[in-house]
This record gives sequence, C-alpha cells and structure tokens, in this order.
Amino acid sequence: MTILVTGGAGFIGSNFVLDWLASSDETVVNLDLLTYAGNLQNLEALTQDRRHVFVRGDICDRGMVDQLLARHTPRAVVHFAAESHVDRSIHGPGSFVHTNVVGTYTLLEATRHYWSTRSGTERDSFRFLHVSTDEVYGSLGPQDPAFTETRAYEPNSPYSASKAASDHLVRAWTHTYGLPALTTNCSNNYGPYQFPEKLIPLMIVNALSGKPLPVYGDGMQVRDWLYVGDHCSAVRAVLQRGRIGQTYNIGGWNEQPNIGVVRTICRLLDELKPDASGPRERLITYVTDRPGHDRRYAIDARKIERELGWRPSETFETGLRKTVRWYLENHAWLDAVQSGAYREWVQANYGARTAT
Ligand code: NAD
Ligand code: DAU
Repeated sequence: MTILVTGGAGFIGSNFVLDWLASSDETVVNLDLLTYAGNLQNLEALTQDRRHVFVRGDICDRGMVDQLLARHTPRAVVHFAAESHVDRSIHGPGSFVHTNVVGTYTLLEATRHYWSTRSGTERDSFRFLHVSTDEVYGSLGPQDPAFTETRAYEPNSPYSASKAASDHLVRAWTHTYGLPALTTNCSNNYGPYQFPEKLIPLMIVNALSGKPLPVYGDGMQVRDWLYVGDHCSAVRAVLQRGRIGQTYNIGGWNEQPNIGVVRTICRLLDELKPDASGPRERLITYVTDRPGHDRRYAIDARKIERELGWRPSETFETGLRKTVRWYLENHAWLDAVQSGAYREWVQANYGARTAT
C-alpha cells in the first residue's frame, strides 16, 4: 500500500512523513517542489529507506501528477504543499494564488480522474485529505467563542484567502463529483524543522545570535499553539477514521499572546544556554505591525475529540522545551537554512520596519 504526500519536505510534511514511516510500513511517495521552504535535510534519516520515494515536482503540473498517480496507485493523497507564510503573502500574493488555489485545483482534478479509474474496495476506501488552517475563519475578539467547524469563512490575508479558496474547491469536488475528501483546519504549529521565518524559530535563532527579537505591534495578538507531532497524529486519525466530506478543526487548547511566547522562549534559552551578556528579554524590540494583522485565533477542537478520540499529547511547556532543545542541538541544519536567500527575506521583511 502507498500514500502520496504533497509538500513532504516542508515543516509539517516532513514531520508527518517521518512519523508515518516510524509507525507503518506503507510506502510514502513524497511530491515536493523544494521551494525555499522545502528541505531534504529534514528527511536525511530516510536516505536509505526504500519506503520513501521522493519526487521533485510541482502540484500545478497536471501531466506529472497524472503519471505519478498512475504509476504508484496510492490509496490516499495527503495534501500539505502550499505557500504558508503570511508575511510573504503580503509581499507577493501571486505565488500563493498559484500554488494554493491553482495547485490544489490541479491536484483535485488529477485525483478525481485517477479515482474514477479505480473500482471496488480501492475506490471505496480511497481518501483525499486536504490540510488547511484556522486562519480561514478570520479574527476573533477577546470574548468570542473559539472557531468551530461551522463558523463562516472570513479570511483576511492573501495567504488565508488562498487557503480558503482551496478549502472551497475541496468541498465542491466532494459535493459535485463525490470525491472522498476531508479537510483539516489547524492552528499554529511549532516544533523541529520549522523554517526560521515563523515566530518561534525566528525568535530562537535571533536570540541565540544576540539579535533583536522583532515583536509586531503591541505583541498582544493571540495564537493557539500546537506541537507539530500532535498535528501529525490528528491528520493520521482523520485519514483513518474521519467522515468523508467533513472538516475537522485541530488545535492545542493553548492560547498565548505573542509577547508571552517570546518571553517563554527567552527564559528557556537563558536556562538551557545562558548568555553572559544577560537575560534574552533585553533583545525584545516592538516593531511596525503586520498589515491586516489578525488579533486572535482559537480553535474549538471538540469535534475531533468526540468523533475520533484525538487530543494533543504535548503541553506548551513540554512541546516548547523539546523544540528549543532541538534547535540547540541541530546547528548544522540551522546554519544551512540561513542561506543567502534567507538573509534576503529578513532584509525584505524587517528592513523597513521601525522600532516602535
Ligand atoms: P512549509 O512552507 O514549511 O512547507 C510547504 C512545502 O510545500 C515545502 O516543502 C515546499 O517546497 C512545498 N511546495 C510549495 N509549493 C509547492 C508546489 N507548487 N508543488 C509542490 N510542493 C510545493 O509549510 P508548513 O508550515 O509545513 O505547512 C504545511 C501545510 O499545513 C500548508 O498547507 C499550510 O497551509 C498548513 N498549515 C500550516 C500551519 C503552520 O502553523 N505551519 C498550521 C495550519 C495549517
Ligand atoms: O494559524 C495557523 C497559521 O499559523 C498557518 O496557517 C500558517 O501557515 C503559519 O505560518 C501560521 O501563521 P501566523 O501568521 O500566525 O504565524 P507566524 O509565525 O508568522 O506569526 C505568529 C504571530 O507572531 C503572528 O501574530 C505574527 C507574530 N510575529 C511573527 C513574526 C514572524 C511577530 O510578532 N514577529 C515576527 O517576526
């Protein structure tokens, strides 16, 4: 048996592939374009593993996706590939529309064609799992109830709008063509192999090199943080036991204001790798806010618990400690990802922000 994973060289995708092959002998065909966010070093442990078949390619390339499906006849597609960073979507929305909307459309069409050629159990048990985000629901006020699966979509950034569009395509492909698809909407992930453009790894990297820790606006925006391993187990649960056509919210029951997250990282680093120049909190710098910055996300994850028995196993304390340790122990990975292109992005995103 085989599954096709898209975006399996990115942060969550690579964690998913590693987790999958640690607990199953089922082959993973990993289709990834290796954009700036894709990194085969994440999958180094699988270099000699015949159960992992890596294919460099674009989900927008219909002919290639058709061939891949025909050759490997997967029993499921798990779709992670996307442009995923909100700040980059503000600087350049085009690639977000291309990959997240056109790419998902292309994958859906190729999968629909492939699925229509299957019969019997193969056809009945086939699944397409679309990995999406809580950002499609928009922004919450301080007293609003957490997002449920029935909340209206109100995406606010080019990134979340492109993901919302892809979610709607998946829904329509099930409703109209009967494609056996499911969608997950997850909150902010953190953990090993996350590219240091996102809040937690960026703060760890900057703090370790004594650079300013750029907190947007007043730092009181709230996110619901989930350890990546818990996201992977939730995706597996939905793939195995989720109901076709349903969406499942995934979250950590762990709302934190950004400034709280940054302070906790500083304290953990001070404990695990003290800095002779003093506590890392001295590096915190409030900077110009992100345009259109969503104030609060919170996930109501009761449906996935009720229907599939899934709950996160890490607390923020245990997950963040593991994460900080991982970055401290993986210098080579960290040095490699901070290449010239990374430095160009840091200049593009932070160069024009002023300290407030
Ligand atoms: P990421 O940016 O780390 O990785 C994305 C991967 O997709 C990369 O390996 C990249 O090379 C690949 N890719 C991009 N364009 C491609 C294309 N056209 N064809 C093939 N591969 C392509 O992203 P991530 O943080 O791992 O997120 C994975 C998925 O989970 C995304 O769909 C994202 O929207 C969703 N998600 C992320 C989070 C989070 O906190 N990171 C939370 C909820 C949902
Ligand atoms: O909610 C799920 C989403 O979480 C995913 O769909 C996205 O793919 C993922 O990137 C993430 O989006 P965010 O915009 O919430 O994540 P990011 O790590 O970029 O930012 C988290 C918060 O920290 C956000 O409020 C912005 C703030 N921030 C971020 C950076 C990079 C800062 O204050 N300073 C920074 O330098």
